[in-house]
Amino acid sequence: MTMTAGNIPLALKSLLLIATAAAAASTVPGTWINLGLRHFPQLEAAQTMETYDAGASTICGALKGLSQGQGKLCQLSVDHMSSVAKGAKFGVLECQHQFRDRRWNCSTVHDETVFGPVLRIASRETAFVHAITAAGVVYSISRSCRDGQLSSCGCSRSSRPRDLNRDWIWGGCGDNLEYGYKFTQAFVDVRERERSFKRGSREQGRSLMNLHNNEAGRRAVIKRSKVTCKCHGVSGSCSLITCWQQLASFREIGDFLLDKYDGATEVRVNRRGRLSMRDPRFSVPTANDLVYLDDSPNYCLPNDTLGSLGTQGRACNRTSSGMDGCNLLCCGRGYNTQKSTIRERCECKFHWCCYVECKTCVKNVDIHTCK
Ligand SMILES: *[C@@H]1O[C@H](CO)[C@@H](O)[C@H](O)[C@H]1NC(C)=O
Ligand SMILES: *[C@@H]1O[C@H](CO)[C@@H](O)[C@H](O)[C@H]1NC(C)=O
Ligand SMILES: *[C@@H]1O[C@H](CO)[C@@H](O)[C@H](O)[C@H]1NC(C)=O
Repeated sequence: MTMTAGNIPLALKSLLLIATAAAAASTVPGTWINLGLRHFPQLEAAQTMETYDAGASTICGALKGLSQGQGKLCQLSVDHMSSVAKGAKFGVLECQHQFRDRRWNCSTVHDETVFGPVLRIASRETAFVHAITAAGVVYSISRSCRDGQLSSCGCSRSSRPRDLNRDWIWGGCGDNLEYGYKFTQAFVDVRERERSFKRGSREQGRSLMNLHNNEAGRRAVIKRSKVTCKCHGVSGSCSLITCWQQLASFREIGDFLLDKYDGATEVRVNRRGRLSMRDPRFSVPTANDLVYLDDSPNYCLPNDTLGSLGTQGRACNRTSSGMDGCNLLCCGRGYNTQKSTIRERCECKFHWCCYVECKTCVKNVDIHTCK
């Protein structure tokens, strides 16, 4: 798929420049991902607001977690914020699904930092969170455009794939990935551009890492998107075929990014202020890959400084040799076993017509939890 810079509103472009130039050294607590976890009722009203609506600054000012530049972008595109919130929520829920069996399970805390101190570590987990949440915003903005929910974008205007059958029509209303990508790039990355860092410093390295992983997340959505076609014509004769660009399921994008997490590359920042490989024997990461600066803690024990909850009490699988196995999940501390009975529907029979009759079976199961 090709990216065209054509359809981002001019106002958004110029605002970006302003926000970038502002370079205010404010340390903003929290993260924009907070929009996805708290309920902000004002966002629904904001969906129908126009750019420069006087109410926008009140609404945006009340959204905890936005950086200065994000606050300005919010005022300019206040109608987008409900989609941003939805995207953040997709990202967090998918993170929790993908990490459900791991020591760090993407748990959240009750403040606008969303994940607590864990994101301070420039780890693989942090890399994943940046990627999946950026992906969530691309996803939901692209879809909102297609659904006609945003005044500044509509159906995708991406160009016809060269290998598409000549007889097929390129023209259904596709998900607007170009716009979703551009908006997300502006909104999510602006945060990293608000401060200036000493070249080659750790802070600069962290900022480059975030930018890289945000981009990898946005690209994952594009890479997983597909051309989808539909038949038209009398009684399925398929005399006319139209095709358009369509988002994959968000689960597919999550699976894709989990692979990237498992294969993430350790990098460092060099004196010229660029990321470089920590171990030159590995292959250089592409823009689709995740990168990290620091090794992860083992997340075995609770540690408030690290934001680790530890794995005590987590349910594990006695026979699995994977991350969900008691051995790995419990960090060798062992596990407790509890007998439990579960009732479930079983031996179901279908009776003509139309009901299903089941018995209730009682099953004894062992539940293992980490010590
Ligand atoms: C928490 O982790 C930090 C960093 O690894 C370590 O210095 C500290 O001792 C740990 N605290 C506890 C209570 O284990
Ligand atoms: C993650 O694990 C903690 C215990 O370490 C548990 O309390 C929490 O419910 C889990 N969260 C999710 C989202 O699975
Ligand atoms: C436990 O792990 C084994 C081996 O990976 C798997 O076959 C089994 O379905 C798992 N059990 C549960 C309850 O997930």
